[in-house]
Amino acid sequence: MYAWSDSDSINLVCLKKWHETPDTVSFELGSIPQDLHFNFKPGQFITLGLDMPTKTDYRAYSIASCPEDNRLKLTVKRVEGGLVSNFIVDELDEGDEVAVLKPAGGFNCIDCTPTTSNKVTLVSAGCCITPVMAMVKYWLSQDSGVEIDFIHMARNKRETIYFEELHQLDETYSNFNLKLLLKDNQGTTAPQGRLDNNWLVSLSPDILDRTVYLCGPVGFMQDIESYLKELEFNMDNFYQESFTPATQNAQSEEPQTEIADNENSVVKVFVPTFGKEVEAEAGTPLADSLEQAGVPIITACRSGICGSCKCKVTKGSVESSSQETLTAEEIEQGYVLACSSTIQSDIEVEL
Ligand code: FES
Repeated sequence: MYAWSDSDSINLVCLKKWHETPDTVSFELGSIPQDLHFNFKPGQFITLGLDMPTKTDYRAYSIASCPEDNRLKLTVKRVEGGLVSNFIVDELDEGDEVAVLKPAGGFNCIDCTPTTSNKVTLVSAGCCITPVMAMVKYWLSQDSGVEIDFIHMARNKRETIYFEELHQLDETYSNFNLKLLLKDNQGTTAPQGRLDNNWLVSLSPDILDRTVYLCGPVGFMQDIESYLKELEFNMDNFYQESFTPATQNAQSEEPQTEIADNENSVVKVFVPTFGKEVEAEAGTPLADSLEQAGVPIITACRSGICGSCKCKVTKGSVESSSQETLTAEEIEQGYVLACSSTIQSDIEVEL
């Protein structure tokens, strides 16, 4: 079993690649010739380092396979303007090597075990199906007896990732109940309805007795969370993860007054260790400015989840929307996640 250290990365080979949907590919990474198994918790993600034409870029992707498999399966969707995702979809070939960093992420079924009973409801949409699919495979392969209601939303059959696999699981396991909701209603396996709390109950009638795991685009997740609250669901039994870019999260929230006050003002970002200084508009994501300065920062998830962009602000102020992987001590010392922090004044940063 291969276990990464914190700073370690391993080069793995793309052993197989195929299309799941017209704009989504899956691929399997493995080791040659050792045939290693990999130590991770179902639901976690890994960070890939890919040699792009000008530099190595890093991105985090959820693992869709189980720890018992000797290959890591990842599923990646084409994203408008997405440099790395689109490179994987278009350019990554079988036989190519990829650097793989340590798996991470608290949204997994080992740290987030079903809390009340052995019943769970998994809710996902689009390509955010991958971490919950890993959890499903783990529970089913372990013969855990976990009773799974699996609610997934997609546009249509053609664009449903793992369509055949989901139906196979539904036919094979009596404790796996698929509620596939397709917008065009062709091949759907659950009652269509208006997305609200009643609809949620119609899909998973004893949802109040279950543990809920949610992964999807930010608006979808906000809706589901608010319906659960309307149902007076015990939120101690609720786990979620979103890979929506932090800047997009920030846009969906109330604008910060400080940003509004500083609007159009130009601030300076100074990184003394590298002797670099750049200018940016107040409110710019810190990660963007550091990348523009050309300092070596890894922004693997850009969602405030993976912690790869951690840096220390020693002077000036930023506004942070996520401190997910930081300890109280690190926050006290001035550490921030660059992808989830916007610049509010002239600042000095240590990497
Ligand atoms: S890039 Fe993952 S937390 Fe910032």
